[in-house]
Amino acid sequence: MTGEHRTARGTGASTRVLGTSPDDMAAAARLLRAGRLVAFPTETVYGIGADATDAAAIASLYAAKGRPRFNPLIAHVLDIDAARRIGLLDATALMLAERFWPGPLTLVVEARPDTVVSDLARAGLPSVAIRVPSHPLARALLAQAGRPVAAPSANRSGHVSATTAAHVLADLDGLVDAVVNGGPAQLGVESSIVGLLGERPVLLRPGAITCEQLDSALGFAVSGPAARKNDRPDAPGQLASHYAPWAAVRLDAVEVHPGEALLAFGPDLPAGAAHATAVRNLSPAGDLREAAATLFSALRELDAARPRTVAVMPIPAEGIGLAIRDRLARAAAPRR
Ligand code: TXA
Ligand code: MG
Repeated sequence: MTGEHRTARGTGASTRVLGTSPDDMAAAARLLRAGRLVAFPTETVYGIGADATDAAAIASLYAAKGRPRFNPLIAHVLDIDAARRIGLLDATALMLAERFWPGPLTLVVEARPDTVVSDLARAGLPSVAIRVPSHPLARALLAQAGRPVAAPSANRSGHVSATTAAHVLADLDGLVDAVVNGGPAQLGVESSIVGLLGERPVLLRPGAITCEQLDSALGFAVSGPAARKNDRPDAPGQLASHYAPWAAVRLDAVEVHPGEALLAFGPDLPAGAAHATAVRNLSPAGDLREAAATLFSALRELDAARPRTVAVMPIPAEGIGLAIRDRLARAAAPRR
């Protein structure tokens, strides 16, 4: 797709598909600095980048995604020093940052009073979500942009996240100015989000850093969002319906009903699998990392076959399996 121009559905606008050459990366950074929207790969999923300090750019980002403005964005920066210029990192935050950055961990901390991250990007909250990605293209873009970059997952709001440039175009062609095509995102599920606003760290979103990893760094078990007392989500991505394909999703299926497609996991398929209208196996070997990496493309592929329902085999609730189960539970939740 490198260098090609694509035209959006009927809008006349076009999303430029950029490659990974120095010229293309410089062009991507120029667009960002000019307040435009540039989708790019991270080690988790593709993000739609916008200058986090530019309220107008952030407004256009919310509009492109169809995202409610009460749902704040993650500010992506290059390193701990850059993180400390926008948020207040206490001892726990610093410890987690040193342990897991660069990498798929997002920390929600109190914003610095003089933070350059726009109010709109933070949805008016006194806090800021910060992530230091490890993907070399994301890092090259951040280095050249020279400012924090807000980057939500590159899908229409509420839809399945994007792990390839083709997924980005399927959702957002004509709605973002460019996409950097850096091949498939490696991990396949989003960063883990840890809230550090109270006495104890709270896992706001399970993700690519496992609870086991967090617990061993902290020296105690991190509490999950279920332990929160209020209904108001701290991470609105925690709203029930999210990651939704068009088809209905039926979890922990031990048999396939007539007319259903099958999202399988592991070598042993359930009864009725031979009659499934379509089948994708997240990992025939039963490997959870592989399953995470294939989750969103498998959901998109099954959806393309337009089944009424996708039956999903049980996924073990351990390691990155918790993040997979979380995304599937949201895909299965009643739609807004
Ligand atoms: O892996 C990732 O984190 C990807 C890549 C592109 O970096 N980004 C991503 O962004 O997943 P998004 O916008 O799809 O999800 C960000 C989540 C949302 O659920 C949002 O509510 C939460 O982070 N969030 C952002 N700022 C927050 C804040 N100040 N307090 C609590 N939650 C926050
Ligand atoms: Mg998202």
